[in-house]
Amino acid sequence: MKVPETRRLSDAAERFGVKPYPDLAYTPEIAEATAPIYEKVRHVIPALEWPVHAPYVFHINRLKAERGAILLVHNYQTPEIFYGVADIVGDSLQLAQEAAKSEAEIIVQCGVHFMAETSKILCPEKTVLIPDSRAGCSLAASITGEDVRLLREAHPGVPIVAYVNTSADVKAEVDICCTSSNAVEVVESLGAKEVILLPDRYLASWVASQTDVKIITWHGACEVHERFTGEELRAYREADPSIRIIAHPECPPDVLAEADYTGSTAKMIKWVHDEQPKKVLMVTECSMADNVAGEAPDVEFVRPCNLCPHMKRIQLPKILDSLVFMTEEVVIDPMIAERARRSVERMVNLRS
Ligand code: 13P
Ligand code: SF4
Repeated sequence: MKVPETRRLSDAAERFGVKPYPDLAYTPEIAEATAPIYEKVRHVIPALEWPVHAPYVFHINRLKAERGAILLVHNYQTPEIFYGVADIVGDSLQLAQEAAKSEAEIIVQCGVHFMAETSKILCPEKTVLIPDSRAGCSLAASITGEDVRLLREAHPGVPIVAYVNTSADVKAEVDICCTSSNAVEVVESLGAKEVILLPDRYLASWVASQTDVKIITWHGACEVHERFTGEELRAYREADPSIRIIAHPECPPDVLAEADYTGSTAKMIKWVHDEQPKKVLMVTECSMADNVAGEAPDVEFVRPCNLCPHMKRIQLPKILDSLVFMTEEVVIDPMIAERARRSVERMVNLRS
């Protein structure tokens, strides 16, 4: 006889100390408990859709409290995750810093795999979970530890900086890490005339435009940001000259040339809050505008929509399963983690 799906899930959940598997009905109790959260996302989620998200939001929040877990959520996650279940939201640097500070025994990383690895590198004794380990990154996939060793041989004595969008293997081979928030500061902190900054050729060319240090780079690119063009931005500006354009430094140089401001995801958000533009175009992953719009009701957002397919693998049902079944655990070879930790900690400690 075929075992019904709900029974099968409940039996499995019981083995992980959760019994039964959460009932995902939209009850009056769940409607009431999640009503304040719905207020924060009603600008992007129609009322008709909320009963689908709300039971997940409710049970994820309940379970994370029971498990003593903390959810770190990147700025690119969809609003029901960003506003519904996050303990900490932020850019890669903020999430790494919060992972390092956290007292929680379990970290659920709702970003992509390199972000979960960074948390594990900084917190080797904690359980770090990612709801879908296939959430990769075209930058992290563009380079291996072996490539870095060959680069070092080709450029003896030149310090190597790795963007955090890299695997633990790569972080283990470099001198220090950086994020888009602190790349210029990290490069200049080395006191060298020449620095290798990998793997993003566009981030590297932007950093080169901000410093006198000579930058050698790699050929990686972000598959989301490289799709924007200067031509499309000029068309937006011609249609409305009052529009303000802000861009992530992973964009190609002709895109950054059109931007009024360039910065990491957290810096772009801060810029919107500080400047309160009438109309803004955020040249980055498109869920971010949905999230910022919730807190900037007087700003009009123009949204050319490029989604990151890797970030979008992280969804509420997978986050719930992550907490029920304690999956998928991030494991790094301790020898590699130890060497990678030096590079990440050197970055995190730069200004502390
Ligand atoms: P931030 O460090 O700006 O959050 O960027 C991470 C990222 O993956 C951008 O595509
Ligand atoms: Fe990687 Fe680009 Fe996705 Fe960021 S947006 S995770 S850099 S593929």
